[in-house]
Amino acid sequence: MTLNSAPPALPDTPCYLNGEFTALKDAKISVLDRGFIFGDGVYEVVPAYAGKLFRFEQHMARLDRSLAELRIDKPLTHAEWREIAAKLIADTALSTGTGAKNGTQLIYIQVSRGVAMRDHAMLPGLTPTVFVMINPMKLPGAEARAQGVACVTADDFRWEKAHIKSTSLLGAVFSRQISVDAGAVETIMFRGEHLSEASSSNVWVIKDGKVMGPPKDRLVLEGIRYGLMEEMCRALGLGFELRRITRAEVLAADELLLSSATKEVLPVTLLDGQPVGNGKPGPIYASLYAAYQQAKLEQSS
Ligand code: PDD
Repeated sequence: MTLNSAPPALPDTPCYLNGEFTALKDAKISVLDRGFIFGDGVYEVVPAYAGKLFRFEQHMARLDRSLAELRIDKPLTHAEWREIAAKLIADTALSTGTGAKNGTQLIYIQVSRGVAMRDHAMLPGLTPTVFVMINPMKLPGAEARAQGVACVTADDFRWEKAHIKSTSLLGAVFSRQISVDAGAVETIMFRGEHLSEASSSNVWVIKDGKVMGPPKDRLVLEGIRYGLMEEMCRALGLGFELRRITRAEVLAADELLLSSATKEVLPVTLLDGQPVGNGKPGPIYASLYAAYQQAKLEQSS
């Protein structure tokens, strides 16, 4: 979007805010919400295919971990979150008449610490603000999958609590904008000489038939696709290793992949203007993509 273009109108889809279902465009929170004032909150982005939530329990487990890091009590049980998500999926299907149950959606969940006069301390005893919305999910198109996508590299200037799925996302916003300005799909970041992740995706390096990713530590968000990637590699008989990966190894990769809820697995074929491997999506990407589609079909929760 250029600076002069009008922002898109807010959609008329349903959402959930603090116990009520309402239209997204009508949902309002206090200006003193700590999510607004400090970015003091956490979130999840859960994909749903044909109305079925994908890897929901894993997303819930990560939400619990993020809440625990922020010392916010769990506001709802997993079953309650699931119920809200199911209602939003059903209501969207009804209100749009487009059969959301057949499409692909993203369930966005956010919990902030709540409303209080501004004070940096993690004030105890507040009532968390609980918000859930549903958006259509635009998966990478056939061309991106067939040709691969371009990415750029940058220093990882974010903080050292990247393992928390926090709504304090200014570092990610700056990071993503570097690739937007370069006409690329993602910004792949390095802390010093070591790969961390991309602005809103994990990064996988493939060399000699082995799939490698950075360790699950405080420097990266453990994407829900971390576990899935390991499972798929095991099922496909591919090597899988989590360890520090150097910039030189990334540049010498046979294949490079992104993974996230919205990108699934996506091949990177151009990095800072240079071809990755032979410049085409590789055979391991093809097997992982097929395995991912199969995992979606088999998912029933
Ligand atoms: N982003 N790393 C970062 C920094 C992310 O923001 C994300 C996800 C991932 C991948 O996680 P997962 O496999 O669970 O989607 C890795 C989401 C999609 C977002 O912020 O919209």
